[in-house]
Amino acid sequence: MNLFETVMALAYLIAASLFILGIKYMSSPATARKGNLLAAIGMFIAIVVTLLDKQIIDYSWIIVGIIIGSAIGAVSARRVHMTGMPQMVGIFNGFGGGASALVAVAEFFRLASETNGLLPMDTSISIVLSIIIGGVTLTGSFIAFGKLQGFVSGSPIQFPLQNIVNSLVLIGAVLLSIYIIAYDVNMVFFYIVVGLSLLYGVLFVIPIGGADMPVVISLLNSFSGLAACATGFVVGNNILIIAGSLVGSAGLILTQIMCKAMNRSLTNVLFSAFGTGEQVAGTTQAGGDKTARSVDAEEAAMIMGYAQSAVIVPGYGMAAAQAQHAVRELAELLNNRGVDIKFAIHPVAGRMPGHMNVLLAEAQVPYNLLFDMDDINPEFPHTDVVLVIGANDVINPIARYDKSSPIYGMPILDVDKAKHIIIIKRSLNVGFAGIDNELFYDPKTTMFFGSAKEKVQELVAEVKKL
Ligand code: TAP
Repeated sequence: MNLFETVMALAYLIAASLFILGIKYMSSPATARKGNLLAAIGMFIAIVVTLLDKQIIDYSWIIVGIIIGSAIGAVSARRVHMTGMPQMVGIFNGFGGGASALVAVAEFFRLASETNGLLPMDTSISIVLSIIIGGVTLTGSFIAFGKLQGFVSGSPIQFPLQNIVNSLVLIGAVLLSIYIIAYDVNMVFFYIVVGLSLLYGVLFVIPIGGADMPVVISLLNSFSGLAACATGFVVGNNILIIAGSLVGSAGLILTQIMCKAMNRSLTNVLFSAFGTGEQVAGTTQAGGDKTARSVDAEEAAMIMGYAQSAVIVPGYGMAAAQAQHAVRELAELLNNRGVDIKFAIHPVAGRMPGHMNVLLAEAQVPYNLLFDMDDINPEFPHTDVVLVIGANDVINPIARYDKSSPIYGMPILDVDKAKHIIIIKRSLNVGFAGIDNELFYDPKTTMFFGSAKEKVQELVAEVKKL
């Protein structure tokens, strides 16, 4: 090892340690910013050291890539709303998988001509793995993005013999890859493997409902890491192998956490065509002959302002309405009046992991007021009032007892055990899982109809008058 190689290895080791430390810090909202910064410094070190590699003979395209990539990154970081984050991550995954596959394709052509088609077996295994996983990630992520953005139907797209067709496409790609690895670098077969991988990405994601896209995106995130890891073996780059495996395993763990919090298996998410992702917004619907009582801002402010204890439950609607700053102001006001205020965070509230924590942190809600489901649930029976802001499924008692319900078994926030419940949402419409919520008709519940930001602002104004 010469001096440069030693410095490079050392720098990669520091970068890898920073990635791991970054992930560790990201596990708590209180340290997440620090974690992000550490991981970014790690990535900066890794990029700079890689760019100093003597194998690079021309920097012009690299510079063009850095300028275009940084510009797109900077603009999207500023402009994309929190609610659009899952689709943005989806696109990033797609490009990550595509980039890995492209590097593997380029290496395949280079090595095939240099070795006269006699590629070492370990290299060709890494190349086809990178191409298959990267190809699936590229097209799969773009379909997932399209479903969330409304460019592709959010409903599961199904056709006869779908599972058989999908399996044949994947098996075809694997068999042709085995032929390439074991017998002959056949260019036609190689192109077919690339094509089948891209096709499988589309076929894999279209039968999944738009509502399950966050889980799919997390899984594809893991795939993009695995593709990068395989490419790391192709080009012999240690940091790519380490970073790829970290992304691969982190994505898988996240996928598992999301499935567990929804009490669904990954197989159920991938193959059960659950949820359309298309919510009907607008009018107030009566749930059969049941009636829901509504409340106005003045009355709601009286209930909250004179309570001893109150728990705020944020959900997807708070994110959609960007009501978090108004919510922080309300919590502050109530706290100043001596109300004991807490926030209850359900693990899958919103549409992505940590959705509520991120929004509340952005609005500067102190972390010590945020309570996880297991910690807050025993508190509900002693709570005077719960204010639910744009949450629905995560407070639906049906999950406890109705085995036919799509959310049966999903742990919920025991909001129904509190003395009084005020729910802010625009109507009696369903949430993500598409099911009615009996809590809206509970005699202890009053509905405060309207968009979350506006209604919380009205509450703030009324609490100030008390
Ligand atoms: P949901 O059950 O989706 O309910 C959100 C409610 O917010 C809707 O019923 C809607 O009612 C209301 N809403 C929408 N826009 C609003 C606005 N501007 N102002 C006020 N209310 C508004 O949300 P949740 O309780 O947070 O549950 C999350 C769901 O997403 C769970 O089923 C979970 O499994 C699923 N999911 C979560 C994740 C992650 S990781 N978080 C990933 C995949 C799936 P109106 O239309 O009547 O206003």
